[in-house]
Amino acid sequence: MTTLFDPVNLGDTALANRIIMAPMTRSRAGPGDVPTSLMADYYRQRASAGLIITEGTQPSAEGKGYLRTPGIHSADQISGWRDVTDAVHAEGGRIFLQIMHCGRIASGLNKDPAAQTVAPSAIRARGEIMTEQGMMPFDEPVALETRDIPRVIREFADAARNAVAAGFDGVELHCTSGYLPAQFLSSGSNHRTDGYGGSSSNRIRFVVESLEAMAAAIGAGRVGFRICPGNPFNDIWDEDPAETYGALLRAVSPLDLAYVHLIDVPSPQVSSLNLLKHNWRGRTVLNESLSRKKAEELISGGVADAVSFGRPFIGNPDLVERFRNGAALASFDPATLYTPGPEGYVDYPALVAVN
Ligand SMILES: Cc1cc2nc3c(=O)[nH]c(=O)nc-3n(C[C@H](O)[C@H](O)[C@H](O)COP(=O)(O)O)c2cc1C
Repeated sequence: MTTLFDPVNLGDTALANRIIMAPMTRSRAGPGDVPTSLMADYYRQRASAGLIITEGTQPSAEGKGYLRTPGIHSADQISGWRDVTDAVHAEGGRIFLQIMHCGRIASGLNKDPAAQTVAPSAIRARGEIMTEQGMMPFDEPVALETRDIPRVIREFADAARNAVAAGFDGVELHCTSGYLPAQFLSSGSNHRTDGYGGSSSNRIRFVVESLEAMAAAIGAGRVGFRICPGNPFNDIWDEDPAETYGALLRAVSPLDLAYVHLIDVPSPQVSSLNLLKHNWRGRTVLNESLSRKKAEELISGGVADAVSFGRPFIGNPDLVERFRNGAALASFDPATLYTPGPEGYVDYPALVAVN
């Protein structure tokens, strides 16, 4: 029977176990959105995960939405990430970079004043975002011109190339949680009348072309993508997620990517696991509120090739070891999730050795 602790290959990357650290924004990047030595410490502490998927990282100044998120579009950022990947590899770990373009989920206050906030359509998302000046409404985005879309796709491919230059084993494209790819996929945020809007086959085009470009840049076996059909987070709405995501999975399957990473949230509109079963050929990573027991069932039942944990990794840098030993899990302090500095970040201890 396959267990959480068995090795698995995701595309070109060999994982020592099937317990993945899910991507988590922690807002600790330094000036210039450059990864810091603190971030290298944080990821090093968690390197016993079969694979770490980093926090969402912007491919361009335009793609930044939140405070203090790192980038992968400047030489200094690539060099900062190199220290992170070296630290993880020195511990025998594997690490993918999550590429996150926030699109309209952004405030101009959080990014380079020259960088615009863009989206498929000029529709402002309802809600607010944290800035240095407190909570602010999301920006009114500028609709991308059709002629600008190849540039944005090229930036994803460049980001993938930069990630490999920084020593990453691969990249994951963030296609959920209301960010730019999800904005294109969803009928509520995509009112375009060109080839990137309208029918589901048009709305998936941006994501398919982005993944194709990333695969062409660094090899399909180094590229994964993350979805969450029916997820309303960040004011996203789609009239028929089963249709949209079914079409997406069928279009992407032949690319032979490393994996799909599914956040399986209950939705009245769609059963994501059914969708995957009927439309996806390839490796599957499953996420969302998993217990060790549930994760084990998903792996032994062949529903998932690997599972990812987010919040449990915050307070338990040695989560894999704790699962192995059946040890209790530590909690974390929500107040320090996004605060700068080491507190609530690198100060959660590993379990003292058990005998
Ligand atoms: C503090 C925090 C930051 C997160 N940031 C990201 C992110 O940058 N990219 C992403 O895809 N998901 C992000 N997520 C979602 C997690 O990857 C994961 O899907 C979620 O926490 C559910 O998994 P869990 O129940 O194991 O925590 C974040 C979650 C948390 C708690």
